[in-house]
Amino acid sequence: MHFESRKSTLKGILDALSNRNFNMIGVYGMGGIGKTTLVKEVGRQAKENNLFEKVISSRVSQTPQIKEIQREIAEKLGLKIDQESESVRAWRLLEQLKKETKILIILDDIWGSLDLEAIGIPLADDNGGCKVLLTARSQDVLSCKMDCQQNFVVDVLNEKEAWSLFKKMTGDCRENGELKSVAAEIVKECAGLPIAIVPIAKALKNKSPYEWRNALRQLKRNFLRSFSGTQAVAAYSTIQLSYNQLGGEELRKTFLLIGYSYICNVKDLLYHGMGLGLFPNINTVDEARDRAHTLVDKLKNSCLLLDGDTSEWFSMHDVVRDVAISIASREGEEKENEKSAEANEKEKDAKNSGKINGRVSKLMKTIHATCAAF
Ligand SMILES: Nc1ncnc2c1ncn2[C@@H]1O[C@H](COP(=O)(O)OP(=O)(O)OP(=O)(O)O)[C@@H](O)[C@H]1O
Ligand SMILES: [Mg+2]
Repeated sequence: MHFESRKSTLKGILDALSNRNFNMIGVYGMGGIGKTTLVKEVGRQAKENNLFEKVISSRVSQTPQIKEIQREIAEKLGLKIDQESESVRAWRLLEQLKKETKILIILDDIWGSLDLEAIGIPLADDNGGCKVLLTARSQDVLSCKMDCQQNFVVDVLNEKEAWSLFKKMTGDCRENGELKSVAAEIVKECAGLPIAIVPIAKALKNKSPYEWRNALRQLKRNFLRSFSGTQAVAAYSTIQLSYNQLGGEELRKTFLLIGYSYICNVKDLLYHGMGLGLFPNINTVDEARDRAHTLVDKLKNSCLLLDGDTSEWFSMHDVVRDVAISIASREGEEKENEKSAEANEKEKDAKNSGKINGRVSKLMKTIHATCAAF
């Protein structure tokens, strides 16, 4: 669907691709926001407007399979590359791509630095008519690891757009019926994130009113944790993937703490983080403040946090928060179980030796439960 909020980004990308000084453009945004959908549309329009003669897309993913990417590009060029060796395949592709006059290669879903030369994509000066459009969840990947000349962010859908997408997917407008207000609230809970709206709307298509009301109740309680079935799985796993990719325990814990405790500025993160011993090897408040800023910046770059008015402030998308809470609870429960098992053992020993009574054991369990998320 063509949304107003995407139009200016789409135009911006097409303009950047027409700029003769640019050959590598990036698109970033949180998981499930619509990057792939957008770049597909860019490719379609770029071809339709004769900006490029050929448009080739390939999905890179977290574990890039160079040979597979080479095979996909070669096939779409009508080039046979049966050679086993990656470098020979790369050389054959490179030779072919240099001959092309107007070609756009879309490499979707990049998670780290990707060696374009190793694939066989010509770079900078000798690239002929070949341009590259990349998508990633992290801005850092595009600007630092891939050196894109211009990057575009994809944001959440506004209320009107989210409502149109939901209506289109349910195929049932509920515009005037008794369920209009239920539908509106369901859309609100999805907070403009297409990966949440689309599967939930599809799941509710042709369902009875009580199922819609039930869905809303579940969404309100906790978007993902209590919403059973496949509807929420796509949204959940999309964001869980971003969480799994966060480098280091400190960053992951920071993400969970911000989500769980509704923290929205660096000062509060510093206060809670220091209290919980979140920052290892830190001696002064100044050091801790710098660390907190760095961690927040990293989460913003990964699109798990949204920018606030100043670098001090930030916010978390509601659906992302639900995932954070869900992960924190799950990890907390796991730790709690481990610790209670340990505590039970100790309690048994203590009871045997008459050193500890039931009340102390209860207290220990409470302490374990409180600390479980950390
Ligand atoms: N403009 C749109 N119109 C209709 N559906 C959309 C639109 N944008 C996104 N969607 C739907 O939302 C879901 C997620 O979109 P998409 O796969 O493009 O997100 P993404 O940002 O590429 O996610 P990821 O980071 O996981 O790769 C898909 O089901 C897609 O069809
Ligand atoms: Mg994608």
